[in-house]
Amino acid sequence: MATRHFLTLLDIEPDTLEKLLHRAIELKRMLRSGEVYEPFKNKVLAMIFEKSSTRTRVSFESAMIQCGGGAMFLSPRDTQLGRGEPVADTARVLSRMADIIMIRTFEHEKIETFARNSQVPVINALTDSFHPCQLLADIQTYIEHRGSIRGKTVAWIGDGNNMCHSYINAARQFGFQLRIACPPGFEPDATLVANNSDRVTVTNSAQEAVAGVHLVVTDVWASMGQEEEQAAREQAFSSFQVSPALMDQADPEALFMHCLPAHRGEEISKDMLEDPRSVVWDEAENRLHAQKALMEYLLGTWKP
Ligand code: CP
Ligand code: NVA
Repeated sequence: MATRHFLTLLDIEPDTLEKLLHRAIELKRMLRSGEVYEPFKNKVLAMIFEKSSTRTRVSFESAMIQCGGGAMFLSPRDTQLGRGEPVADTARVLSRMADIIMIRTFEHEKIETFARNSQVPVINALTDSFHPCQLLADIQTYIEHRGSIRGKTVAWIGDGNNMCHSYINAARQFGFQLRIACPPGFEPDATLVANNSDRVTVTNSAQEAVAGVHLVVTDVWASMGQEEEQAAREQAFSSFQVSPALMDQADPEALFMHCLPAHRGEEISKDMLEDPRSVVWDEAENRLHAQKALMEYLLGTWKP
């Protein structure tokens, strides 16, 4: 069987994705009940981080430890990747020593090159274009609080960035409608939007996007690598802040999510994370459970 990778949500069939999230809910229950479950015994996860991380690093590392395996953190500063060793060579070498590899990097093409040269599964832990692991946690969180997301409507408010692109893929794979509200010039990739025009609409009004929706999601205005654009972006995005007042225009049962880290006073009002509609802490925790299920699937220790 060909090696399975997870570079975008489109790499896993919708049916399997659904089962994987129910498996994540089961793994969460098992952990809470104190059950020892070690499907990754003697397995090694290599984690390459070319950008900062709190949640992704800790969730993957904890997942491996709890499941009986080990994880190693590799940064370009201390590996030969940072001194120009080609990605393809690194992939060939690491995949002879590790059982599964996770990468957070800049260009999406880099992770595609890595995967083409790897004998073992490669997981996208965020690129400039996509953040699929976060979507597993987000949809798991929605299911836990409200049941299936199929047929619901989601509003994405803010930047047409990597998270927004993964929400477009999620709309397709999980069967929901997505309304994206961005300032002019910050829309998501036009081809991705066009390819999903049955599910996705783009507007320049946050108010228009949130009306009656079941889930409101936002993210930072300047992503990692865009730090020098911060001031200009604060100007451009000033009418795209998510607040309890904006949430009041959504469905009365609407939830609020943010992948975190959040900037209070920018993309969210100071009180948004503490609002009862916010489920961001469950969302962050679910990275752990969803990625365990993902790795079980990629390593073949669980069959959908
Ligand atoms: N949401 C997320 O990926 O967080 P980190 O950057 O802390 O990993
Ligand atoms: N869009 C953000 C997500 C961080 C988890 C970034 O790329 O920095």
